[in-house]
Amino acid sequence: MVRFGAVNFALCRSELNCRHAGIIPLAGTDAQRVELKVKTQSKKVNKSWLNDHVNDPYVKLAQKEGYRARAAFKLKEIDEQLGLIKPGNVVVDLGCAPGAWSQYVRRRLSPEGAAVGDLNGTIIGLDLLHMEPVEGVTFLQGDFREAEVLAQLEEVLQGRIVDVVVSDMAPNLSGIESTDAARISHLVELAVEFAQKHLKTDGALVVKVFHGSSYSPLTKLFKQTFQVVKPIKPKASRDKSSETFLVGMGVKNRQITNP
Ligand SMILES: C[S@@+](CC[C@H](N)C(=O)[O-])C[C@H]1O[C@@H](n2cnc3c(N)ncnc32)[C@H](O)[C@@H]1O
Repeated sequence: MVRFGAVNFALCRSELNCRHAGIIPLAGTDAQRVELKVKTQSKKVNKSWLNDHVNDPYVKLAQKEGYRARAAFKLKEIDEQLGLIKPGNVVVDLGCAPGAWSQYVRRRLSPEGAAVGDLNGTIIGLDLLHMEPVEGVTFLQGDFREAEVLAQLEEVLQGRIVDVVVSDMAPNLSGIESTDAARISHLVELAVEFAQKHLKTDGALVVKVFHGSSYSPLTKLFKQTFQVVKPIKPKASRDKSSETFLVGMGVKNRQITNP
């Protein structure tokens, strides 16, 4: 069963998987020309992306510090700015694969900041995709939009109140603005609902959002739900990218069934 957030969006599965919605199959020579043009353009884009990636200081830093992805430095900056994650915390990491945010949280909850060994706290990660184990992190594979997966996550929590929920979940983008905005909103709304049910009163939720038509309604939802709302674009988030993060602190209208 698929769950719906505060605003309901009907999302068809074929749309979700349609990464190349702009390519229309044509017959004969025209088809080859279109294919060729698309391939040449995507080759250029790939080359430019690869160039940026290889020369990116955060990619180098991630390699040096043993993080699986440069994304670790986005959460690190948000956490250092707002002091969200503290020893003893229960942290839920939504959309955790390949695991860089979980690795960061794991180190934050280690008495010595270590990647292995003692851990003062609890980390539960969830993703659609498989994640290679991160020591001390309980991993669940599944789709956060599905009620069964939410029930599994709640079972792992065993009634524990959560201190921080972080969500770097991002849907497959179709390139169609309205569709993508709906997909992004749906994931964020579900994360907000989860936070209302499971965060402690002064807990925090960090979500990834994108500038576009979904941004303003999601900011409004955050302001309705949290005492304090901070939009943050960490330095590690590329200028070219429309991604940014919303942090909500202090839940106004908790819906805790098991306080
Ligand atoms: C940008 S990546 C996360 C990177 C991660 N924070 C890290 O530091 O390694 C986004 C992740 O969200 C996951 N995701 C997207 N939609 C999801 C959903 N409905 N349920 C669970 N995970 C989802 C994707 O599979 C992907 O691994």
